[in-house]
Amino acid sequence: MASATKIPFLDLVTPHQELESELLAVVKKAFSTAGFIGGPMVEAFEKEFAGFCDAKYCVGVSSGTDALRFAFMAAGVKPGEIIVTVPHTFIATTEAISQAGAHIAFVDIDEQTYTMDPAKLREYLETHCDWDSQKKQLIERRSKQRVAGIVPVHLYGQTADMDPILEIASKYDLVVIEDACQAHGAEYFSKKENAWKRAGSMGLAAAFSFYPGKNLGACGEAGAITTNDEAMALRMKMIRDHGQAKKYCHNIEGYNGRLDSVQAGWLCVKLRHLDKWNESRRNLAHRYHQLFADTNDAMVVPAEAPWTKGVYHLYVVRVSDREALQARLAEAGIGTGIHYPIPLHQQKAYQHLGFKTGDFPVTERVAREIVSLPMFPQLTHSQQNEVVSTVKEFVGAKVAATR
Ligand SMILES: Cc1ncc(COP(=O)(O)O)c(C=O)c1O
Repeated sequence: MASATKIPFLDLVTPHQELESELLAVVKKAFSTAGFIGGPMVEAFEKEFAGFCDAKYCVGVSSGTDALRFAFMAAGVKPGEIIVTVPHTFIATTEAISQAGAHIAFVDIDEQTYTMDPAKLREYLETHCDWDSQKKQLIERRSKQRVAGIVPVHLYGQTADMDPILEIASKYDLVVIEDACQAHGAEYFSKKENAWKRAGSMGLAAAFSFYPGKNLGACGEAGAITTNDEAMALRMKMIRDHGQAKKYCHNIEGYNGRLDSVQAGWLCVKLRHLDKWNESRRNLAHRYHQLFADTNDAMVVPAEAPWTKGVYHLYVVRVSDREALQARLAEAGIGTGIHYPIPLHQQKAYQHLGFKTGDFPVTERVAREIVSLPMFPQLTHSQQNEVVSTVKEFVGAKVAATR
């Protein structure tokens, strides 16, 4: 039987209590100016977050899902065109593709990093699509639709392998929109540029979510898009605000997708702590790695590729009997999660796309085995020791039983 949670999967109370007076001051400021939507607090946050991501522009929006959708629209993706992503991600990635009127194509993930496998991307683009040299477009053979873009997802706070993805995108004139919703502050070492690059600074645009549980979370729904392209930034500003370039002059039909000023003010307060919080997540992840080092083959811990400096939004391990491990941890009062148990191509929502079991074997295997352990900046070493000893006890007993 599950006991009361002693060690939560995520502690969202402590950081807000610690920052309570600064966060309340933001609300008071909004009351005293009645600036609830847009305005100086939103502009200040956009400037600071663009700087944090090493991007030229940031456009605050109402969620990470809208951030992705607005980025596709601003990039000129047309109805019926294809956007390629991975089936191992949160459904918002593909919802945004469909909501922009585009079609979804999947390529499998890499088994070490759980992010888009560039070799699988190349294989899809080169064996299922043809280059129309007159129109200078890549056309998917089956649907006869143009492939317009790629969405690498920086899952769990680790960046996808961007150099080969950007190279193949440029070869076939495809836009790259990063899904950085789980990767605020993550870095990628670009061999091509011989430099570390921040998530949000590499694609044509990048989407961030500030859902409360993210590394940088709002106190409600919020998101942002970063880009180095001024025209993209202007279009995304228009799209988020009913298509208006100035008040009541609507150049296009847009959306109500703006960022609230109170959320922006809170995000500014929390952004000042993000580097420190990310560092704490990295230290905790490395401590988990060390403490689990002697579990050998019984358990797979996250692999950090040499080209990424992850920010460990999640610490995801793999075991063969994860439901039993989750039950054992729940019994010990330890919270866990699964991100995500059903691959997108096997979801009911996508039955009409006609995928079948076995189409993306790495994703399917990973989805059966993953468990996310407690990971948040305020996790103490003694809490972490308890998680580790409970997991090791479980894994050790399983190994002994199979001997
Ligand atoms: C990978 C990924 N993409 C997109 C989103 C959508 O963000 P939001 O919930 O802010 O709409 C999320 C949020 O959970 C996410 O994890």
